[in-house]
Amino acid sequence: MLLKNAKVVNPQTNYEKISDIRIENGIIVKFEPDIKPENNEEVIDLTGLTVTPGLIDMHCHLREPGFSSKETVKTGIESAINGGYTAICPMPNTNPVTDNVVTLQYLLYRAKEVSDIGFYPICAVTKGLGSEKTVNVSELLDSGAVAFSNDGKPIENMKILREALKYINSQNSLIISHSEDSTLSEGGVINEGKVSAQMGLKGIADITESLAVARELEVVRSVKGKYHFAHISTKRSVELIRQAKKEGLNVTAETAPHYFSLSEDDIKDYDAKYKVNPPLRTKEDVEAVINGLKDGTIDVIATDHAPHTISEKQSPIQIAPMGMAGFETSLGVTLTYLVHSGKLSLMEAIKKYTSAPMKILNLKNQGCISIGNEANLTVIDLNEEWIADASKFKSKCKISPFDGYKLKGRVKMTIIKGKIYKIG
Ligand code: DOR
Repeated sequence: MLLKNAKVVNPQTNYEKISDIRIENGIIVKFEPDIKPENNEEVIDLTGLTVTPGLIDMHCHLREPGFSSKETVKTGIESAINGGYTAICPMPNTNPVTDNVVTLQYLLYRAKEVSDIGFYPICAVTKGLGSEKTVNVSELLDSGAVAFSNDGKPIENMKILREALKYINSQNSLIISHSEDSTLSEGGVINEGKVSAQMGLKGIADITESLAVARELEVVRSVKGKYHFAHISTKRSVELIRQAKKEGLNVTAETAPHYFSLSEDDIKDYDAKYKVNPPLRTKEDVEAVINGLKDGTIDVIATDHAPHTISEKQSPIQIAPMGMAGFETSLGVTLTYLVHSGKLSLMEAIKKYTSAPMKILNLKNQGCISIGNEANLTVIDLNEEWIADASKFKSKCKISPFDGYKLKGRVKMTIIKGKIYKIG
């Protein structure tokens, strides 16, 4: 199969040029401008479209086992493919928690049943996401875990965090932090500030996040650890991570599309579709997150796809669970709010979806277009304008704050090991 005439953007090698890609048996065998088709070769003309390495989502929730009414491995993968992803990393806050080899193997088996998507589970740091016992790290790594996180809940026992970080790093893996001080966030619904005051809702102050980031940075410093901060949402957190990187700490960070496109001012009608943890912050925080993306303080854009049932998300905002569907709007929101707005170049944005997470997690066959690699690719129409329609999501979660938004830039195909999934 020959993909012809696309603009190929490959951040790993800083390559941006009209080129062709030949794929044989799911592997990229030739990649250069003007490849002549061979006899009987299927040629796919991608004139006017852009090809990137397949998108990687290093932070999502698929809810299986335990919460299949919210999402399953199958619907989650279908939703991810619809969003242009060729690799995903599900978080372990399921029931049972992915803190043991049996649950991990179950997940890997379920994913294989659905597709060949790169499937890289993140396992819990502690048993049952509790505060007592750490998991068996080497056994989980041997069985296919790529990193460790208690996402959804912070690790607040610094002794456990410090010991776990030392051991996990010694096994060439890393911890992904959900940075939150739960004594400050308890019972909070939306960001603490003018909107929470107007609406009479309990707030979650920005220090809830930055206090945890600061404390964890000290732990990382003390053990010279490798550490990744998930879903960064505040100006102060961005400043702390920027400073830590300047000082040479081995830390990386991610944010999600809703933290650079929406603020607390968008929350309307007590609608729980805006409820997420960390919460949508102020316009000043949004600007700081964008600056963090621009200067490299924030390395990765991940979805934090956190589906819940329609009835849960239609409950009163005070009791509805936190989280929103993310896969199917992620790239469109990024292209609209960061690239078409001139804040990031296309190369900078695509890097945060591909080579950056690939390097942090040390993934093979993902994040880079090169000869000999599996053909995991995303085909994008940068200029197509479309209306996000949550009712059409493949995810079970058909509620999204971006429902009805006009976006510019749309995924047209997701190619996994040479198999084409047509989208949009
Ligand atoms: O909004 C969120 N939902 N944030 C998290 O950290 C966890 C997630 C979930 O699992 O629902």
